[in-house]
Amino acid sequence: MCKIIEPSLLEIQNKYIETVKKWNAEYKEKHSHSRKMYCVTMGCQMNAHDSEKLKGMLLEMGYEEADNEDNADFVIYNTCCIRANAEEKVYGKLGWLKNRKRKEPELIVAICGCMTQQDTVIEKIHKTYNFVDIIFGTFNLYKLPELLVSRIESGSEVCDIWKEHGEIVEDLPTVREHKYKSSVNIMYGCNNFCTYCIVPYVRGRERSREVDDILKEIKELVSDGVKEVMLLGQNVNSYGKTLENPVSFAELLRKINEIDGLERIRFMTSHPKDLSDELIDAMRDCDKVCKYLHLPVQSGSSKILEKMNRRYTKEKYLELVDKIKAEIPDIMLSTDIIVGFPGETEEDFQETLDIIKKVKYSTAFTFIYSKRTGTPAATMEDQIPEDIVKDRFDRMLHILNPIIHEVNNSQVGKVIDVLVEEVSKHDEKIMTGRGDNNSLIHFEGSKDLIGQIIKVKIIDNKTFYLIGERI
Ligand code: 5AD
Ligand code: SF4
Repeated sequence: MCKIIEPSLLEIQNKYIETVKKWNAEYKEKHSHSRKMYCVTMGCQMNAHDSEKLKGMLLEMGYEEADNEDNADFVIYNTCCIRANAEEKVYGKLGWLKNRKRKEPELIVAICGCMTQQDTVIEKIHKTYNFVDIIFGTFNLYKLPELLVSRIESGSEVCDIWKEHGEIVEDLPTVREHKYKSSVNIMYGCNNFCTYCIVPYVRGRERSREVDDILKEIKELVSDGVKEVMLLGQNVNSYGKTLENPVSFAELLRKINEIDGLERIRFMTSHPKDLSDELIDAMRDCDKVCKYLHLPVQSGSSKILEKMNRRYTKEKYLELVDKIKAEIPDIMLSTDIIVGFPGETEEDFQETLDIIKKVKYSTAFTFIYSKRTGTPAATMEDQIPEDIVKDRFDRMLHILNPIIHEVNNSQVGKVIDVLVEEVSKHDEKIMTGRGDNNSLIHFEGSKDLIGQIIKVKIIDNKTFYLIGERI
């Protein structure tokens, strides 16, 4: 009897990759240069990592990377919708491309990512930017080769948006932004539904990758020279709950910590409500896990936290911070803060300033609340007027920046291990790298140090980066 083996999703895409590769080889033969592609990435590290996969597929298809979008035959926008300004930027770019597309009909424009998961965005693209060739979303990124073939063969627009996730497609071709560090997805989606946040609507429900797939990927990265991995998920602390054989994030960390040749493990993002004692113990015990934790607080007011559906109070958050600092004394903490959430009073805002003073973050990502259609917060009463929010935002930075400076002062005089990442964009004699605790360090050195972990003595503190001296 003959057994029919279905081709995997990846095998199907590989066939389309071969088709485009052939077309691009013919083009190169005729024009003596390759077709060029450019990928514009907006938003978070998750999107940046998705772009590495998009670029990986495009390179496999025979495209070369252009040095900017104006020189590309294929332009793809991997979009973000977390705040309104991210969306406005994309519309600005599309508006500008309209003219170019009129002059260069061969140009292919694709748009994907979080923005396109919203019906209103698709309607707007169809109405105002109907020259866009390929539209797809966050759940079917791996289908880019198929959609490209379909666009070229049909000569018309291809729009493929899924409302739910399918299976996780492993082993997509990827190009890494950095040679010595790499992001690794451990899970996708989010189940938390913070009331301000659009992510659960555009990235779907939580699902985790299998432990063995993650370990295999990291081992391959290490054998390719990677020293540091960043484990990515919207809420890594709930990793593994949906697997057939549930595994905790702490257990995963302990397994990754055993990989020979790997030097550093980072992860983001941790939701405070799910950060367990088991995880704190694993962070303390695993020598490769960096002494740095991104722990978004969002607000210092328990009343606002409840309206945000964060499911912790100011007191619980502070208790957690104390516990973490007690177990891992020299840990550095960073956070996300939103100012101007609906109903935020001056008193609530003062609570946020108070938590900033109490925790003493080494970095903070600060945002003005942005109304996202479809989220519960968008229809809440008491939206805060712009001038009040801006004033609070400025006052917050006045408190925050000196604290960041003070926290970083504790580093001055210390000798720390720095993973050298790149040459400074402003001065080729200056190298930049990161300490275990994520501090950014500039020091005089040469390019051949890139990828090494070296000892650097910190001699000055410039608030958002430190100056060091190689010893
Ligand atoms: N407005 C402002 N900031 C937001 N974030 C998420 N949604 C919004 C919004 N609607 C911030 C949160 C989150 C970070 C990634 O973006 O602080 O942690
Ligand atoms: Fe958004 Fe909250 Fe999920 Fe983070 S945890 S992605 S803020 S809904």
